[in-house]
Amino acid sequence: MRNIIRRKSQTYPGYLNDFWKTYSSSSWFQGDYINHFNQEYAKKIGVKHAIATSYGLHAMSLALDFYNFNQDNEILIPGYTAMVVKRCLDEMNISYQCVDIELTRGTMCPLDFEKKITPKTKGVLVTHLLGNSCSKEIIQIARDHNLLIIEDCAHVHGAFTNERPLGSLGDAAFFSFSYSKIINTYTGGMLLTNNDELRNFALKNLATTPFPTRKQLLRKLLLGHAENFVAIPLVTFLCAPIIKSNHLLKKIKNGLNYLTRKKVLNFFQYSNTQALQGLKQLGQLETTLKRKSDKARFIEENTSIKYLERKDGDVYYNHIAIVPDAPKYRAELLKYGIDTGCGNSIMEIMRPEENLPGCLAAHKSYLMIPNYDSLTKIDLERIVKAINATDALLCGNSSSSQQA
Ligand SMILES: Cc1ncc(COP(=O)(O)O)c(C=O)c1O
Repeated sequence: MRNIIRRKSQTYPGYLNDFWKTYSSSSWFQGDYINHFNQEYAKKIGVKHAIATSYGLHAMSLALDFYNFNQDNEILIPGYTAMVVKRCLDEMNISYQCVDIELTRGTMCPLDFEKKITPKTKGVLVTHLLGNSCSKEIIQIARDHNLLIIEDCAHVHGAFTNERPLGSLGDAAFFSFSYSKIINTYTGGMLLTNNDELRNFALKNLATTPFPTRKQLLRKLLLGHAENFVAIPLVTFLCAPIIKSNHLLKKIKNGLNYLTRKKVLNFFQYSNTQALQGLKQLGQLETTLKRKSDKARFIEENTSIKYLERKDGDVYYNHIAIVPDAPKYRAELLKYGIDTGCGNSIMEIMRPEENLPGCLAAHKSYLMIPNYDSLTKIDLERIVKAINATDALLCGNSSSSQQA
């Protein structure tokens, strides 16, 4: 029986051909695709400026630098997000405070957000996590307190709220195009803003940012594929007995992170080769999102466990179930050849020493269900069957989701 791995990079038919075509040409690095990608992205989000960068965090760091975040002021961030965000703030020497999240949505809790605002607070990183838009109350509270709003849109390509595209709600926003994202250009990011001065600042900064070498670009492609075809199946199926605790998985993930991003603030310029991949995927974004939501909904409709609540305009970046004990569910599902993610392999707790009950609960109970293009109807049926059997075993009845 074929094993179903938890995650696969987003690609499109002919992506390798496109890669080699640009990569082997004289315009592998600079060329028209970058401007075209920037223009199309700005149009899509409905903001004046879009500037492609080497990572999402590259775009974030430009915005934070421009708005002068440092040790004398503070930015509020969710206590549950990607660890690289915290590493970036630490490397930039920026003070931050963590806000709790709402377990049902995965995004910042407005009550805790308001409580954490002090005279030192200068801005907020409005993170639209796991495909869900941050509550509009967060935006309102931030505006009432005159805070700068920087949107982290790493997980929400094509998402909107109240008819407005995410990425257009604040002073600046950034998207990520790394391997696991809805648009994958083998790393990459996009800075969005209506602020002409921020745009000029970013362009000036990028003009002095080093170019990657051709070898580095090729390595990005290969690492992306390694993630699909080596790391996850190997870790999951050869080491399954050892990783029930997720401990080894964390070590391997940190090791891979170390190999690829020893220092977070180690940026290059974005390449023409990557921009073509981005342009093609941007053109197919609605279809990609529909495929993801169709798969997720099929699973949700045929199982009785609880899932992350979705609203109109949210997207299924990750399909997340909320179960009483995610590592236990994961270990059981592995017996059916279904690899799911939990704990640090979804998101991490920024400051485990702080009392943030929503973040702790998410870390314990979020379970990432496979959701990618190559899953067939038969795969989805197998996932449904395995979830139902696991839930019956671990919770004893089909209304187990109430206990999550
Ligand atoms: C929520 C979130 N924000 C920011 C980032 C950083 O994006 P990048 O890897 O493109 O720098 C990530 C990356 O995974 C993320 O998950």
